[in-house]
Amino acid sequence: MINGTRLNERIEKLATIGKDENGGVSRFSYTGTEKEANELVQQWMEEAGLTVQEDAVGNIIGSLEGTEDLPVIVLGSHIDTVPNGGKYDGALGVLTAIEVAHSLKDHGKRLKHPIKIISFKDEEGTRFGFGMIGSRAIAGTLTENDLEHEDDNGVTIKQAIQNFGLEERPLSTAVLENIKLYLEVHIEQGKILESNEVSVGNVTGIAGPLWLQFTLKGLAEHAGTTPMNQRQDALAGASVIISEIENIAKQTDSTVATVGKLSVKPNGVNVIPEEVQWTVDLRDINEAKRDAVEKNIRQFANREAQKRNLDLTITELQRIAPVPCDETIQQVIKESIDEISQRKIISLPSGAGHDAMQFRNVAPVGMIFVRSKDGISHNPKEFSSESDIEESGRVLYSTLLKVDQQ
Ligand code: GLV
Ligand code: MN
Ligand code: MN
Repeated sequence: MINGTRLNERIEKLATIGKDENGGVSRFSYTGTEKEANELVQQWMEEAGLTVQEDAVGNIIGSLEGTEDLPVIVLGSHIDTVPNGGKYDGALGVLTAIEVAHSLKDHGKRLKHPIKIISFKDEEGTRFGFGMIGSRAIAGTLTENDLEHEDDNGVTIKQAIQNFGLEERPLSTAVLENIKLYLEVHIEQGKILESNEVSVGNVTGIAGPLWLQFTLKGLAEHAGTTPMNQRQDALAGASVIISEIENIAKQTDSTVATVGKLSVKPNGVNVIPEEVQWTVDLRDINEAKRDAVEKNIRQFANREAQKRNLDLTITELQRIAPVPCDETIQQVIKESIDEISQRKIISLPSGAGHDAMQFRNVAPVGMIFVRSKDGISHNPKEFSSESDIEESGRVLYSTLLKVDQQ
């Protein structure tokens, strides 16, 4: 059906690009490392019989014509990583889709629908604090204003696109219309499949991430001479707010909140911190619950800043709504799992965000999850077995053949 050896070899090969000393992978958008990885992906797409193009934001798109004049089926994921990430998050989806196309070619099979396999630019949002750049562009949700997000060196997405050597084209040229459906294979990044002892699962929906950036400003003064009751210590204030963020989320049964990035200025041992900046990542499959947590956090943070005579600014980095997966596609995925693995069929929601989310108002969405060892992800220890990966490729292949008939 599909060539599991070829698929697993490619996953290993791609992981050598951007490899960190401790075995993790760091591959960020619009860098030389990413370019090298893109070249490999492009080569594999061509070997699979796809015609490859790079669009206005740098998505790598492999196209295959259908035998009939029908809407396109889009398969995709991303090859960028978080800092010191694993080798499966994203890469698995891109390479599984390419493998499916390659297998179609090997078996001389033609689909009625055209397909496009997309390696999306920057899903993780590592570089600019703003993710899913490529899938937003394809879905038509990326704005000129979004391109003003800056990396830690003050380089905007717009500048990075230019520096990467891409020809300047309007964002509208990247938008893909007339999409029949969007399908993505991804590692689960959780423990549900593992605890149920199954290799693949059907995704019911994707939790929506909301990213905020907090900047708290006080006054830098001498640590030895400023009495405790006369300070405007931004870090002391930040620590109270950050621990309350955890408390507020813990009071719900489903919302998760993470402060994952923090910087302190001037960052001296004997200087009272003048400015602290941190990010908050809030997620829930229920948008109203997530937004209620956001409101409580904002209220608490504003009160605490006022009490301590600190100046607080909260900026929204990205707000993405949760996305339900399409019922009909879920049914097809479940039938394919049933045929291939003949084990119990597990349906589960995704806590992690995915490029699939951008297709919310554009096309029906389906996702296939692959078991993650110990549920670990965004970590060099991220692992999915070769046989599970091969099985996900078979499920994707079978799902694609079925939806092509619909
Ligand atoms: C990407 O992995 C995300 O969920 O932030
Ligand atoms: Mn991912
Ligand atoms: Mn990820």
